[in-house]
Amino acid sequence: MLDRPNPAPEAPCLDPFALAKALSGSHLIGGRFTPARSGRSFAVVNPATGDEVAQAAEGDAADVEAAVADAAKAQKEWAKLPARKRGALVHKAAALIRDHVEELGRLIALETGKALRTESRVEANTVADVLEFFGGLGGELKGETVPFAPDVLSVTVREPLGVVGAIIPWNVPMLLMALKVAPALVAGNSVVVKSAEEAPLAVLRICELMNRVLPPGVFNMVSGFGPECGAPLVAHPLVRKVTFTGSVETGKIVYRTAAEKLIPVTLELGGKSPMIVFADCDFDKTLAGALTSMRFTRQGQSCTAASRIYVERPIFQKFVDAMAAKVDQMVMGDPLDEKTDIGTIISDGQFDKVKAFIEEGRATAGATGRACSAMPDDPALKKGLFIQPVIFTGLTRESRLVREEIFGPVTCIFPFDDPEAVLAEANDSEYGLAASLWTNNLKVGLNLAHKLEAGLVQINQNLVVQANLSYGGVKSSGLGKEASLEAMLEHFTHKKTIMVNMG
Ligand code: NAI
Ligand code: MG
Repeated sequence: MLDRPNPAPEAPCLDPFALAKALSGSHLIGGRFTPARSGRSFAVVNPATGDEVAQAAEGDAADVEAAVADAAKAQKEWAKLPARKRGALVHKAAALIRDHVEELGRLIALETGKALRTESRVEANTVADVLEFFGGLGGELKGETVPFAPDVLSVTVREPLGVVGAIIPWNVPMLLMALKVAPALVAGNSVVVKSAEEAPLAVLRICELMNRVLPPGVFNMVSGFGPECGAPLVAHPLVRKVTFTGSVETGKIVYRTAAEKLIPVTLELGGKSPMIVFADCDFDKTLAGALTSMRFTRQGQSCTAASRIYVERPIFQKFVDAMAAKVDQMVMGDPLDEKTDIGTIISDGQFDKVKAFIEEGRATAGATGRACSAMPDDPALKKGLFIQPVIFTGLTRESRLVREEIFGPVTCIFPFDDPEAVLAEANDSEYGLAASLWTNNLKVGLNLAHKLEAGLVQINQNLVVQANLSYGGVKSSGLGKEASLEAMLEHFTHKKTIMVNMG
């Protein structure tokens, strides 16, 4: 058991308020909870009420230095373990996460405002799934024999990169962290995670749980703000790889620093994902798909949110009306309440940003924004960052709502007449993360799937990221892949060639 600054039960803690307090004020470095060297901390706020629920350690370059130093030391021994043994430890950590799903679900609901039933518990389960998946891949870190010459044995081996710096956002912090940490560790690297300032607690708890089975120093976590804590992690000379999920703007800053050091990066950035609906689709299935595609249960705070929906003209109006009616049935409210479908926006800053987009849309001539569902009436939630989902029609492709990532519960629906025209519209975007097509005509569907500029195209479904399937965008949506064997091999190892002249 790790020494804690505050008392917290070893067993799963189903009171997220108590657990948040217990996790206050610490990084996790070298297997120990440790406060910021500066002594500073910042507030973690429950976005459903505006109340402070914890303080998080406010890390800076001194904390990063300590974390990277411990990670570099631990990595040397970690890399000497057989790969399958490393995987087995990650797998063991997955079992611990499984035991704590309910706890982690409640904690992430408290700090992010994502509803427990529809989002937070699901995310906690998926973390365990991702750890189980990568935990089984140790034996896949194989090299090749190369037929160079008959008397020269030529082989390749996969080696870890060293210390990996992982910077994560607040929308799905536990899962996005797992997608980075699990393959990095199984491949023999050590990791320093910089958590998102809005959501530092549940990831810290996962780090604690995993540190119960991993050697100290292999998985470290610092909390703090981007420029003060994230930037020194990227810049640190012993950090040999950076994996980042977040905004395009910050992704470019990370990439520039990494370029100076000539280290590889993986960047998972934003999206403006189109959903294309043909009149021959299975209407009810597609309608349900539109709700999940738009990630309304996550308040649209998803890089794969179907924020542009194109519907073939004969069913356009029917689709818009049916979709609005469906969203009306969704319940907005206390994220910790089992009845709640839709929780809150993460922070005041994001709330203002989303509201500004909605106002701009409403002010656009010819556009209609239909607000759906209903604001919660519980007085305890009156300061909560709730935004009613809005379905816009009548916008044009020039609108900022159609071009920029809103990262809120806002979608824009357009009619279309012909597949080539809709393809051009769908590809007319800076982004290229994901797309979905809804049709029973496989010929039309496959044809468009090949032509869509996106890292992931799904026909008649729109699932979120899944273990075993390579995930990552093109254009401004990023560089590299996550979630798959390929991601572990290509992004967390390098290939060394060894030749033996036996002549
Ligand atoms: P952000 O990209 O600024 O933050 C993501 C992470 O990067 C956080 O941990 C942050 O502390 C860190 N960071 C910030 N500045 C940094 C720097 N100079 N060096 C190193 N690390 C740094 O995203 P933010 O401000 O939270 O959200 C802004 C917008 O970004 C959202 O509205 C959304 O459009 C997009 N976004 C996309 C995400 C995705 O899943 N692709 C996730 C979060 C945000
Ligand atoms: Mg930012």
